[in-house]
Order: sequence, then structure tokens, then C-alpha cells
Amino acid sequence: MKHTDIKEILEKKHTGESLTVCGWVRTSRDSKNMAFLELNDGTSLDRLQIVINKEVIADVAPFMKLGSALKVEGKVVPSVAREGGVELDADSIVVLGDCPADYPLQKKRHTLEYLRTIPHLRLRTNTFNAVFRVRSVLAAALHEFFQSRNFVYVNTPLITGSDCEGAGEMFRVTTHGYKTDAKTEEEYYATDFFGKKAGLSVSGQLEGEVCAMAFGKIYTFGPSFRAENSNTPRHVAEFWHIEPEIAFADLNDVLALAEDMFRSVVGTVLKKCPTEIDFFEQHFEKGLHQKLEDAIKEDFAILDYTDAIEILKNSGETFQYPVYWGCDLQTEHERYITEKHFKKPVFVINYPKEIKSFYMKQNPDGKTVAASDLLVPGVGEIIGGSEREADYDKLLSAMKARNMDISAYKDYLELRKFGSTPHGGFGLGFERILMYVTGMSNIRDVILYPRTVNNLY
Ligand code: 4AD
Ligand code: MG
Repeated sequence: MKHTDIKEILEKKHTGESLTVCGWVRTSRDSKNMAFLELNDGTSLDRLQIVINKEVIADVAPFMKLGSALKVEGKVVPSVAREGGVELDADSIVVLGDCPADYPLQKKRHTLEYLRTIPHLRLRTNTFNAVFRVRSVLAAALHEFFQSRNFVYVNTPLITGSDCEGAGEMFRVTTHGYKTDAKTEEEYYATDFFGKKAGLSVSGQLEGEVCAMAFGKIYTFGPSFRAENSNTPRHVAEFWHIEPEIAFADLNDVLALAEDMFRSVVGTVLKKCPTEIDFFEQHFEKGLHQKLEDAIKEDFAILDYTDAIEILKNSGETFQYPVYWGCDLQTEHERYITEKHFKKPVFVINYPKEIKSFYMKQNPDGKTVAASDLLVPGVGEIIGGSEREADYDKLLSAMKARNMDISAYKDYLELRKFGSTPHGGFGLGFERILMYVTGMSNIRDVILYPRTVNNLY
């Protein structure tokens, strides 16, 4: 069906032309001699005003229903009411898909909670139109950032036999039914599809390291799965994960890469999505624009975990979770540090080894590892990364101390035997950075079908 994108018409690339547009009716107004429609086709947040002269089209009633899909032929002319704008004088209109009055998205503004119950329709609202365009632009910006710096894009497996983060949050993958003949756990897995226990990957990092040891600089961009039972506004069971891994690099290089990437992609969104950012500023986060402008200008803070604990202890705040050296930072702690103390993005580095993963580089103090989380205002942790332990013996002893099944990590250990080099990387939660740039405060509103505990819509 030949037609022109509304985005192009609003950019005034077709003024004076006669053409066809297709879209859904967002507003309609019928007056004595004229009728007006606003049509949106999803190519922009803005709508195109369609002006109907009743001397040209007498019966306008079939075109007035919100949500119906129309095809309109007409001429693009300068707008009468909106200075500098354009509108379409309709010559003929065809209803492609009628929309009866029980269409849920009538004029009244709905809550985000209600819209989550209609995921197949919520995308037609301004909010989700804006969220998903920013999501698309941000994804392309991330690829562009890495591609332009000679990173190789790799696709790591989603079904895996090893648990990267070791936090016991893996979904199982099985073809066994409700009943099996297995008498023991061993027999159960031995008779399953892979002949051993399998799960959905929580991270592509271990395979990412394999790739970095060959290609130097790599990144992944795909889904990761976490079966953590946390019903929070920041957790979903299936999220999109960007994981760069770089060889010949220490923790400082990892931080520099993360900061560079963050700045670059936020800058691209500011440049390419000004209408959407204005929309979010108006409806969801006052000061969003300034926050993003500042984030791409100012250096991020770098804070030692040990100093973070002191800041929290001296904050005068009452936290729900106690603060002591060795505690894992909770969202309330992270948000105090980034929102109240520094008021900007903060890298916390050198965490106690007990609360971090086995693969992180052990610092000379014997107590901490070269890990880093990036905390940002409004969200908290958005990136988790580290320099990796590149020494065979040290890695092996860290794994033994955690009672890990060494045989499952044979290849991973061998990377430390054959041409090992200092290396590191990080994982960026795609939905978390989307929350940051859009000001949406619930992760369920930046992903198409949020998978959460007890919810598989
Ligand atoms: O901090 P995490 O667990 O780190 C890793 O998985 C490392 N293997 C990454 C690496 O070094 N290559 O996860 C990384 C990021 C978090 O900072 C967060 O942004 C996001 O992934 N994330 C989640 N996002 C949404 N829902 C969840 N349940 C998430 N779990 C982690
Ligand atoms: Mg983390």
C-alpha cells in the first residue's frame, strides 16, 4: 500500500504534494462545515492533522472513531492553526479497520498499571510510542558505539550448563515431563535432553571472555535470564544485556569504556529524540533534559567501596538494611550515594570478595576484588563489571573456596593457561539505562512483555 510516513510530512519534506497517509485516529472533532482528525502512524510521536471539508466529504461519521485505521488521500498544506506546521486537506478517506466504542484507549488518560493489563494495545499511546522509539534509537547507538571502535559483535549461547554469576538464579531447561522414571537426581539429569543439567544463561560473560581472548574487543547484545524472586520496579526475569569484554585491559580501562559508552549513547538519544525527551520531561521526570545534558558533560565519580560505607554511616539517614563493611549495597544505599551525596553517576569500586563473583581479579589486600558497579540517580545499579582474574592458580583457588564444580569450568580455566592476559568487561542492563534516559520509574514500562514472578502475559 503506497503511502508516506507521517514523520516525513511533519518534517515538511512534502509540503504542496498530493499523497496518501495511513494511520490510526488519535483525536477527532466534528463541527458544522468541517471535521478534524489527528492521525498517528507510529513513525513519530506527533500526529498529522487531517482537515475535512464537508463539501468534499459529506459523511464524516465513519472516520471519527478513535483507534480506527484509515487511509487518507489529500494535499499537504501549511497549517492554518499551528504556525510553521503542516496539515493534510483530505480528498478521500477509506476505513481500513473499524474500531468500536469498547476500544479501551478512549480520550481519558490511563494509569501505567492499567496499561500493563493491555500490552497489545498500550503501544498505541504516546507514552509507549515514545519509550519504544527511544529503545530502538538507543539499541542502534550502542551498536554504533562499539562498531566504530573495532569491537566484534558476538552472540553467546542462551542455553548453558554453567552458572556465570553463581547466584543460583538460573531457570532450568528441560524436556522432562511432570513424571520421570529417574530414581536419583543424577539419573534425572542424565536422561534429560542434554544428558546433564541445563539452564538459561544469566550472562554471556564467560563465552564473551573466550571471544575477547581471540578478537581483543567484543560485545554481546542479547537476552539474559534471572530467576530471582524479586518483585521490584527494577527487576525482570528476562532482560536485555550488553556485555563488552576487552583484552589487554585493567579495571581503569573498563571504567573508561563504560563512561565513554554511557556518554556517547545518551548523547545520541538527546540528539535524535528531542520530542520524546521533551515528552518524558513533561509527563514523567522534571529536570530530565538537564540530567542527561549534565551526565554527558561532567566526569562520573569514582568511589572506593570502603569509602562508600563511611559515607553511608555518616549520612544521618536511617536505612532499612544495616550498613557495615562487608554488606552488599542495597538499592536504598546505592540511591543515597548517587542521588543525594554525589548527585551524578558514580562508579563504586573494590568490593569485598565475599559478595562478588568468583571470576573477579583479587586485589593485593587479600580482601577485595577489582569490581565496579555504576550507580545512577533514579535507578541505582545500571552496570556491573570487573577486571577478571587472569591468573590460573588464583582463579582455581577462588573457585575451590566456593565449592564450585571445577570440571564444568575447564575451558574457562584454560584461557588462563594459553596466552592469558589482563582483561575485563561489564554488563549493562538495557532496560535499566532506558529507565534512566526516559525517566520511567518501572522497568515493566520499558520492555514489551515484562516477565516477572507470577506474570507471563
Ligand atoms: O551485575 P550483573 O549481575 O553482572 C553480570 O552479569 C556480569 N556477568 C556482567 C559482566 O561483567 N559481563 O548484571 C549486569 C547488569 C546489572 O547491572 C543490571 O543493570 C542488569 O544487568 N540486570 C538486570 N536488569 C533487569 N532485571 C534483572 N533481573 C537484572 N539483573 C541484572
Ligand atoms: Mg550486579
